[in-house]
Amino acid sequence: MKTTTLLALTLVVRAAIASPSIDRQAVVTQFNPTRHASSNSTPMQVGNGNFAFGADITGLQTFLPFNTLSSWGWHNFSLPTAANQTSTEDFTGLDWWTHGKLVNYDQPNPAEPLISNWLIQNPQRLNLGRIGFYFDPVLNIAESSLSSKSQTLDLYSGILTSQFSVLGKDVQVKTAVDPDSDTVSIQIESDLLEGRKIGVFFDYPYSDVNKFDAPFVGVWNATSKHTTSLQQGDGKASIRHEIDDTTYYTSIQWGGKASISGPANGTHRYVLSSKPGSGSSLDLSINFSPFLEEKIPPDADSITSSSEKWWQEYWESGAFIDLTSSKNANATELQRRIILSQYLLAVNGAGHDSPQESGLVNNGWYGKFHLEMPVWHLGHWARWGKWDLLGRAIPGMYERFLPSSIERARLQGYEGARWGKMSDPTGRSAPGEINSLLIWQQPHVMYFAEIEYRDFPGEETLGKWDELLTQTAEFMVSFAFWNSSTGVYDLGPPMYPVSENTNPNTTINPTFELAYWRFGLSIASSWKERQHLPVPANWTHVLSNLAPLPIENGTYTIYEGIPNMWIDPNTYYDHPAMTGIYGLLPPPDTPSFNLTIMNQTATKIAGIWDFNQLFGWDFPMLAMNAARLGEPERAVAYLLDPNFVFDDAGYPVGGPRVATPYMPGSGSLLLAVAMMAGGWDGGEEVSAWPEGWVGRSEGFTMAM
Ligand SMILES: *[C@@H]1O[C@H](CO)[C@@H](O)[C@H](O)[C@H]1NC(C)=O
Ligand SMILES: *[C@@H]1O[C@H](CO)[C@@H](O)[C@H](O)[C@H]1NC(C)=O
Ligand SMILES: *[C@@H]1O[C@H](CO)[C@@H](O)[C@H](O)[C@H]1NC(C)=O
Ligand SMILES: *[C@@H]1O[C@H](CO)[C@@H](O)[C@H](O)[C@H]1NC(C)=O
Ligand SMILES: *[C@@H]1O[C@H](CO)[C@@H](O)[C@H](O)[C@H]1NC(C)=O
Ligand SMILES: *[C@@H]1O[C@H](CO)[C@@H](O)[C@H](O)[C@H]1NC(C)=O
Ligand SMILES: *[C@@H]1O[C@H](CO)[C@@H](O)[C@H](O)[C@H]1NC(C)=O
Ligand SMILES: *[C@@H]1O[C@H](CO)[C@@H](O)[C@H](O)[C@H]1NC(C)=O
Ligand SMILES: *[C@@H]1O[C@H](CO)[C@@H](O)[C@H](O)[C@H]1NC(C)=O
Ligand SMILES: *[C@@H]1O[C@H](CO)[C@@H](O)[C@H](O)[C@H]1NC(C)=O
Ligand SMILES: *[C@@H]1O[C@H](CO)[C@@H](O)[C@H](O)[C@H]1NC(C)=O
Repeated sequence: MKTTTLLALTLVVRAAIASPSIDRQAVVTQFNPTRHASSNSTPMQVGNGNFAFGADITGLQTFLPFNTLSSWGWHNFSLPTAANQTSTEDFTGLDWWTHGKLVNYDQPNPAEPLISNWLIQNPQRLNLGRIGFYFDPVLNIAESSLSSKSQTLDLYSGILTSQFSVLGKDVQVKTAVDPDSDTVSIQIESDLLEGRKIGVFFDYPYSDVNKFDAPFVGVWNATSKHTTSLQQGDGKASIRHEIDDTTYYTSIQWGGKASISGPANGTHRYVLSSKPGSGSSLDLSINFSPFLEEKIPPDADSITSSSEKWWQEYWESGAFIDLTSSKNANATELQRRIILSQYLLAVNGAGHDSPQESGLVNNGWYGKFHLEMPVWHLGHWARWGKWDLLGRAIPGMYERFLPSSIERARLQGYEGARWGKMSDPTGRSAPGEINSLLIWQQPHVMYFAEIEYRDFPGEETLGKWDELLTQTAEFMVSFAFWNSSTGVYDLGPPMYPVSENTNPNTTINPTFELAYWRFGLSIASSWKERQHLPVPANWTHVLSNLAPLPIENGTYTIYEGIPNMWIDPNTYYDHPAMTGIYGLLPPPDTPSFNLTIMNQTATKIAGIWDFNQLFGWDFPMLAMNAARLGEPERAVAYLLDPNFVFDDAGYPVGGPRVATPYMPGSGSLLLAVAMMAGGWDGGEEVSAWPEGWVGRSEGFTMAM
């Protein structure tokens, strides 16, 4: 169902207006990013969600080694060789007292430092390689040697066009990525090709052990630690890269007369050069794969047309919002963030697993991904009607990780499946105190199931999610601790809440987790009812007797009994998750949820919280809360907060606490916009946009 809607003053008649659909191409292309020099923090990217290529001002990785990252390219360093620390089985974690019992957690064990660290640092995501323009080294060409530099990313076709002059001649290059394979296409036009003054190089790094590798990933001078080899045919070549136990291939094909030489002595650098008489254009396509593909990857022309087709379909399907007719410059800036986020999320956040925080731009947390983040990274796909992109990871990722999550719960004495945290593609959760004690990733499964059911109610959705919901709920029920002195079920201790800055041994009954447990168990229960199956009595007992949301002095606190809430600044700088219970989540169904208290909490946070310490999804979470509270000015102000910055190419800037980009900022922005554009249950009378923000939207359904 597609209905075009007028926002702002006409919002109440949201569903009734049917006007012509928005000229999406005109809106999108207004925000095509253009650069005249390389950025030293972010590339311009082309990619397909599982694979992305980051370019400098030359359209390649000539002067700055921006990265080529994928869902599948990972590397392990060799295991330690110290006594009793030679195998992953040697890691024993730590036992912590948990309601009178010792429970084992995957935390670094000081007696096993080497294997503990190995498990944290491995595997790391690999930078698959670097592709740049080759100039004879004696010419000493640097970015400053180039003139007339200009680069535009056409969002509507996914094609990056870059031009510059060097050695007195113009160079033009078009870069794109195949939507269906991990292949970059490069189309170069320049007289320098004919004179063999310019070529294309391929180079390969070793892995490094940094937790954050931004903006560049890999070590280029450890050349003796890995090997490459070249096989060349007519118009094609393949380079095999062996880096410890990981091997993958670069398959290159080109049109016209050219050949590859190399590697230069002591390097892994290969150079493709035209042969005399080959003309002034060179087209090549470069595929990266863990297998030596039997079939030749598509050529540059077909990649360019597939890219045009894929991106057009991307923009023309699903939901859309157009705020460009508003006179308010803030509306235009919000529109820019929305469009560029939509582009960057399709490049960086539409893969086989939930994305890492920095997408496929660079590496954070060794390139691993966090299971408390999929709601921010991926939830927007559902809310913008891009179900095929959500479907690449969800629920498949949960299905793959289910057996190890059941085992994790079992080893700790719980029922069901306990979802991990900092993950690699095998689903193993890295050792860590926070990693092992965080719990808010758990009800995400219910969140995804329910947003799907709202758009696709029926047997198929019910069947698809039933086992995942059951196992997730079983853990939630057994994790809740019956406190016989208070007669309620407690969450924790030990645990870490969303704000990871409390003492885990005293953290009990955090506001957000209680609301989310309530939400999750009630969805799991209705899932059974919808299938005419009995709801397990123990689920109902826990749901009906969960501890009340903690309230002190008329506000929700981070957790029950937290000392000096609102007095000690250490209590009010991390994620303000109390606002998530009425915004990200629908209103909690408990007498302890009170709108006056919610409003007072939001007002207190707006007045006192340390906004310099907030980042990424904090702002959209606050915006969704403000919108539900009927404060649209505050909602959009949060989305445009001076601490929530998007750079010229739309990358969400990390800030003082995390590296750039911090992609959950983009996903959460789109989640909030979907809620504000589509409305929410019970919010029919509330305008989510400030007066004077004229806009149209189409294709959004109501939020929970
Ligand atoms: C790294 O080692 C772990 C533990 O042996 C293994 O499960 C994983 O598959 C390995 N990953 C890679 C990319 O080699
Ligand atoms: C290795 O384990 C053995 C047997 O458990 C033990 O006797 C020895 O002290 C351990 N060595 C080290 C270095 O921890
Ligand atoms: C929490 O308690 C465990 C013992 O159960 C202890 O080892 C750990 O150091 C404590 N952590 C903090 C932060 O107090
Ligand atoms: C590689 O370069 C880094 C940083 O410049 C340097 O610290 C390191 O010693 C070099 N390693 C080798 C093997 O040359
Ligand atoms: C490559 O480098 C090694 C050691 O640096 C040197 O002995 C050898 O002659 C070089 N080979 C060529 C072809 O330059
Ligand atoms: C809940 O009750 C069912 C039996 O009705 C049982 O199989 C399951 O283990 C119980 N779950 C928990 C978490 O106690
Ligand atoms: C029961 O709840 C009270 C209040 O939250 C708490 O102080 C006490 O530690 C809990 N009892 C147990 C056994 O956890
Ligand atoms: C509530 O207010 C009283 C009096 O101002 C103060 O002593 C107490 O610390 C406050 N509690 C919280 C949780 O803010
Ligand atoms: C909500 O809380 C306010 C402030 O404590 C109180 O005056 C009001 O009665 C409460 N409302 C309900 C429905 O409990
Ligand atoms: C929240 O409080 C403000 C005053 O601080 C008031 O204007 C507004 O109506 C309240 N909103 C709700 C939903 O209670
Ligand atoms: C635009 O947003 C900024 C930052 O939130 C705010 O300070 C400014 O007042 C807004 N301008 C308008 C015209 O709304």
